Amino acid sequence: MSAFDRVSRQWNDWAKADPLWAILRYKEYKGGAWPIDEFFASGKRETERTWTTLEKLHGVVNVTDVLDFGCGVGRLTQSWAGYAAHVVGIDIAPPMIEQANAFNTAPNVEFVLNKRADLQVFADGSFDLVNASIVLQHMPRTLSCQYLAEFARVLRRGGFLVFTTPTEYAPTLKGRAYRHTPRPLINAWKRLRDGGVMEMHPLPLSTLAPFLTAQGFRIDLLDRSRAAGSAWVGYRVYATRR
Ligand SMILES: C[S@@+](CC[C@H](N)C(=O)[O-])C[C@H]1O[C@@H](n2cnc3c(N)ncnc32)[C@H](O)[C@@H]1O
Repeated sequence: MSAFDRVSRQWNDWAKADPLWAILRYKEYKGGAWPIDEFFASGKRETERTWTTLEKLHGVVNVTDVLDFGCGVGRLTQSWAGYAAHVVGIDIAPPMIEQANAFNTAPNVEFVLNKRADLQVFADGSFDLVNASIVLQHMPRTLSCQYLAEFARVLRRGGFLVFTTPTEYAPTLKGRAYRHTPRPLINAWKRLRDGGVMEMHPLPLSTLAPFLTAQGFRIDLLDRSRAAGSAWVGYRVYATRR
């Protein structure tokens, strides 16, 4: 099975089993217990923070077309509707897209299923901003780098890329435990605890920074982020398409 097919199957399974918890894994909300309003409010807060940071970096910011890559059920996609004329959420898992459509209340948002390792569904220069929150970390590096290259293609010159990624294990107890425990053992424990595995793949800064530059991005800010959990050092990366 290819890495793409494996990732696709994992997310299809998560999306059927417990989609909101698969997206934001707060242990108190496991088993379909996420309060919907709080779930979507968390997306609104995250997008507000992202927007404020973009304004600090660039002054007045105007975006018309936004792509939310790995949109899940539209937690962030819907919140981007307040900042842009047209927002597209794209996801690999059919049940995520079905639920995103069911939850959606914004007229300028659409959701697209993309079961491909590229973004050929979009023409070059289709977007002013690409957002990818807590997505790229769940796929092998070859695949995440393919998508990063596609982000450069579908962004207009001067467009913004914002994404989160873990870069290395954290020097925490959990980080050390993950680093030193054989992967099959970790996966067996995750299956027992959660009923499945959600792969984690860091993108080390030593690989990521030159790769982004080679794709035509300028890195504007590496903002420390805890989005991947306490086992990881991670960043929200802000970059501009040159
Ligand atoms: C942890 S969830 C995050 C969802 C959303 N970004 C949010 O923060 O609410 C990861 C999402 O990425 C999607 N995903 C994983 N691999 C993908 C791929 N190759 N292409 C598109 N979506 C993908 C999954 O189906 C899932 O909905």
